[in-house]
Amino acid sequence: MSRPENHEPPIVVQVLLVDDNAANLVAMSAAIEGAGTRVVTAASGDEALVCLLNGEFAAILMDVQMPGMDGFETAALIRGRPRAKHTPIIFLTAINQSEEHAARGYALGAVDYVFKPVAVETLRAKVAVFVDLARSRALLERQAEALREANHSLRVTADALRLANAAAAFANHELEMFNSAVAHDLRAPLRSIHGFSAALLLNHANQLDSVGREDLGRVMAAAVRMGQLIDDLLGLSHCTRSQMRFRSVDLTEIASECLTQLQSASPERCVDIRVAPGLMTQGDPRLLRVVMENLLRNAWKFTAHHPKAVIEVGKERGTGAFFVRDDGAGFDMAYANKLFMAFQRLHRLDEFEGNGIGLITVKRIVERHGGRIRGVGVPEQGATFFFTLGDGSTKELSPV
Ligand SMILES: Nc1ncnc2c1ncn2[C@@H]1O[C@H](COP(=O)(O)OP(=O)(O)OP(=O)(O)O)[C@@H](O)[C@H]1O
Ligand SMILES: [Mg+2]
Repeated sequence: MSRPENHEPPIVVQVLLVDDNAANLVAMSAAIEGAGTRVVTAASGDEALVCLLNGEFAAILMDVQMPGMDGFETAALIRGRPRAKHTPIIFLTAINQSEEHAARGYALGAVDYVFKPVAVETLRAKVAVFVDLARSRALLERQAEALREANHSLRVTADALRLANAAAAFANHELEMFNSAVAHDLRAPLRSIHGFSAALLLNHANQLDSVGREDLGRVMAAAVRMGQLIDDLLGLSHCTRSQMRFRSVDLTEIASECLTQLQSASPERCVDIRVAPGLMTQGDPRLLRVVMENLLRNAWKFTAHHPKAVIEVGKERGTGAFFVRDDGAGFDMAYANKLFMAFQRLHRLDEFEGNGIGLITVKRIVERHGGRIRGVGVPEQGATFFFTLGDGSTKELSPV
């Protein structure tokens, strides 16, 4: 794997050379200059002070004996500058100077003394110490800046999350109010519609002709269907928001129970039921039962038009995803994106009854468990629904 490219500019540190002798400056520059080290030269103390206005230096090499302002005087002024207060100064001086002379230099903050003529290697080694120090400091500052930026982004993200949470809490509260309004306010008039229609049919049937009675029957059927829709919606909202209790769940057992119930409700159906043993997982048992019930009810329903059917529940070998498979009506994959949308159905109501709320409920539950779901179908050959539960025992769902 190739490393990500580093777009950080290289760190360049500067060294200031101060000497009135042009030949010395050229020789010392050649000794010090190198990758990542830039040399700035000044021919006098005044020039050195101007250079210090424009930049920061890893070290200053200063000739002591200069006409006009000498090295010591220049150093004293440099120490007065806030930006250069702690810049290391190495004095270059003639070899025959007194102890007193050196003491004066150290008092001005000299870090070293080099006696002329200077050996190139010595100069290079002495300066390298300060160049490395300055480079490490610059690197640390750069990292600190990156950390500050990362911290800032984290704070912004945390703020955004807090806002999103507050919005979600508000939305949940709104949803809660909407749900109880649906549950109580809508159900009561619905009960009246159904009840009064039934009473009308019971007590005044002879005052209505057959068309009137049929119409009233339709009103009652519509009221019942609307009641079912309200129940389904409330069920969906409950599955999405109820508290989850994780424990070990036996999907084999749940699937077998569901299929036994479906078979006993339609004993005439000829269905070959194949449930793999030992389909264990971690999750909320009540919610996972809702998942299995919906998928198996669909498998049962969409195989109803075939005289013989096979319904299979198992675990895919490669991905470890659980699946519910049937060989019934199937569906056109061109519309697969609608499978998990509320009230969306890929079959007509007169072919197969339903409200189109089962699969979205399943999807919400699977996602609450940290899993994914996917449906694959072929018209008249059947459908398979694969799902994972994010319990670590499964890999990503394989692409369609
Ligand atoms: N096993 C399946 N075989 C073929 N089509 C399916 C299968 N399962 C789901 N579908 C298609 O996906 C649609 C949505 O399924 P979903 O379970 O949400 O709704 P439904 O079964 O029609 O109604 P509900 O579950 O609310 O009673 C179905 O109407 C059907 O078109
Ligand atoms: Mg369904």
